[in-house]
Amino acid sequence: MKINSNTVLITGGSSGIGLAIAKAFLNLNNQVIICGRNQQKLAQASQTYPQLHTFLCDITQPDQVSEMFTAIKSQFGELNVLVNNAGIIKFYDFIHDEDALNSGEQEIATNLLGTLRVTKSALPLLLNSKESAIVTLSSIVALVPSANMGIYAATKAALHSFSRSLRQQLEQTTVKVFEVMPPFVDTEAIEQIKADKVSPAEVAEALIKGLRTNNYEIRVGPAKALYFAHRLSPAKAENILKQLVSKAFKVQMT
Ligand SMILES: NC(=O)c1ccc[n+]([C@@H]2O[C@H](COP(=O)([O-])OP(=O)(O)OC[C@H]3O[C@@H](n4cnc5c(N)ncnc54)[C@H](OP(=O)(O)O)[C@@H]3O)[C@@H](O)[C@H]2O)c1
Repeated sequence: MKINSNTVLITGGSSGIGLAIAKAFLNLNNQVIICGRNQQKLAQASQTYPQLHTFLCDITQPDQVSEMFTAIKSQFGELNVLVNNAGIIKFYDFIHDEDALNSGEQEIATNLLGTLRVTKSALPLLLNSKESAIVTLSSIVALVPSANMGIYAATKAALHSFSRSLRQQLEQTTVKVFEVMPPFVDTEAIEQIKADKVSPAEVAEALIKGLRTNNYEIRVGPAKALYFAHRLSPAKAENILKQLVSKAFKVQMT
């Protein structure tokens, strides 16, 4: 997949991993569009990178997604890379936390339904391009789940499965389907976890390399080792992550 002269939409591109991906695409002479829910964060991003195009759009809201695509069609006339990055993570105990179901519903609405909605809306434009890509940020927890992020991990497992099905379905078309599985990344989303983290820039770099080399499942940094541990023994991999997470939360409480 070519990595320059694309028109790229990054959902949730105003901070964290999404913003690092936006910067990487801008540096490679791509036209970059980002969206998010918070106007101030979008304004801050375009102050830092004036070449960015921004849309205020909550991907859980069908009308807002539809309006954004109407605007993209009329302003750009094309879109050939979609990066499904917008996502939320909440840490809770599903058994004891009163608000667990509400938190889980928000995670499903954003990470899964929101991503499906944006993907479906982008497909006509992507299918109309000579070479295009759908890149979805899942996580290594798509394969190796963890107790205090159960529904989050389930949404990422669903995205992993969906990316594989979509890849099959789009096999004979111009659209390539990529998935990025990061480990812990140093962003606001997991601020409270005190563990070894990779930088958002490292995720962006791996994504660009994966696109260039047509590596459809991009595992980043320590996610590679956990992936191979999972292939050898899913139980062993689960145990490794369990220890990492419990250590991270213990450090947080002390
Ligand atoms: N950080 C990690 O350790 C890690 C590891 C593996 C995978 N990931 C995945 O990587 C992606 C980015 O995570 P991050 O760590 O960079 O998180 P982040 O720093 O919290 O950024 C999330 C971005 O998504 C946007 N967003 C959230 N909900 C949205 C919605 N409903 N509609 C539109 N935009 C929305 C946020 O902007 P607004 O608040 O303005 O909407 C923000 O720009 C997520 O899918 C996450 O699951 C993260």
